[in-house]
Amino acid sequence: MSDALVIRGGRPLQGTLPISGAKNAALPQMAAALLSDKPLTLLNLPHLSDVATMATLLAEHGVELELAQEGGASHLTLTAARVRSTVASYDLVRRMRASILVLGPLLARTGSAKVAMPGGCTIGARPIDLHLKGLRQLGATVELRDGFIDASAPHGLTGARIVLPIVSVGATETLMMAASLARGQTLLINAAREPEVQDLARCLVAMGAEISGIGTDTLVITGKPRLGAARHRVIVDRVEAGTYAIAAAITGGRLHLTGARRDDLPAFLQVLEDVGVEVGEDSDGILVGASNRRLTGVDLMTEPFPGFPTDLQAQMMALMAVADGASMITETIFENRFMHVPELCRLGANITVHNASAHVRGVMGLSGAPVMATDLRASAGLVVAGLAASGETIIHGADHLDRGYERLTEKLSRCGADIERMRLS
Ligand code: UD1
Repeated sequence: MSDALVIRGGRPLQGTLPISGAKNAALPQMAAALLSDKPLTLLNLPHLSDVATMATLLAEHGVELELAQEGGASHLTLTAARVRSTVASYDLVRRMRASILVLGPLLARTGSAKVAMPGGCTIGARPIDLHLKGLRQLGATVELRDGFIDASAPHGLTGARIVLPIVSVGATETLMMAASLARGQTLLINAAREPEVQDLARCLVAMGAEISGIGTDTLVITGKPRLGAARHRVIVDRVEAGTYAIAAAITGGRLHLTGARRDDLPAFLQVLEDVGVEVGEDSDGILVGASNRRLTGVDLMTEPFPGFPTDLQAQMMALMAVADGASMITETIFENRFMHVPELCRLGANITVHNASAHVRGVMGLSGAPVMATDLRASAGLVVAGLAASGETIIHGADHLDRGYERLTEKLSRCGADIERMRLS
């Protein structure tokens, strides 16, 4: 049985809260270690269960992992001197969909890869057709059988012009990694521009890849016969920063989010300001504080970067639940990403869903209740709601949060939250 979080809300958060390395940047970079027989050292890796799952998967492929401490921070060196197995088992892939990120590197490095099909998940069908189509365009044969993606390219991959019909973070990462070891040039059009995609590109360049157009929607990748050793610092987690920014705003507090960068969250911080939250920046990070006026509801829509991130939609909905007036929140990236709505309503929110839009009518306050966490970001939405609610909120399924929030209870308690983890037997 999973742990629960117990929050006694209503305390304004104050102080400095350090932001950890980004989960969604760390996972593809760990997979990128498969592209080279030389060591890749990643600094600022967050301590998260998803990172541990990726480490387990890579170890099964024969990657040697060495964790070292340096000046209070830990870094991980991944060496894929020899790839022992090119099979990613269902057991690990079903635990974490991002396991699919080993497909491109395994195929490009060894000429074959067999990765279990991820299947659906709680936030919708989440297909991987664009990953597979792109790899076929690079010359691979890809078949689906017995629940596995079976990909082969015995004579290596060849660069190609690939147009992605929709913006996909994962497909851009798979194809960028695979193209780094392909023969010739690959043009990736309508590529994702998320900071995590840019950070993977910088990590690959440090390993010896040739990539231009980083940060734009057109990437040009000139394949190399091999990649070398590198040392790379993972960017800070903008979703973690955004979550704690909302925690400050919803509790009427003020937080200094050290390490966070304004440029990583342009649309999100603009919405926060529009709602009536004060946002500032200094050389150490972002400052977020409640202003004197009541928060007001705004309409927003999730979009690929630099638009409003889908990974902050649930948390923003919790904030809108206690703002004056009505808000319309439209989810355009994932179907079925409103699992938090009935749980927020249990805390007293007034929200109705019509297709891909949630209509939020602000209430004066939330009150604590037992709720169920269904996925990582839905759980984060419940945590910020619980911090604002009067009385006690018990969030069941706290393990979801371990996937993406490093030392959540400790970080929040240090800033004044009354939050503890309870082991349920
Ligand atoms: C990544 C992030 C996730 C974030 C999401 C969108 C990681 C580990 N996860 O997920 O936290 O919410 O980006 O910013 O980095 N799609 C297809 N076919 C494909 C691939 C995607 O139709 O082959 C669709 C998806 O169903 C979705 C949209 O494209 O509707 C965007 O998904 P994508 O950007 O690929 O998300 P992930 O990489 O899975």
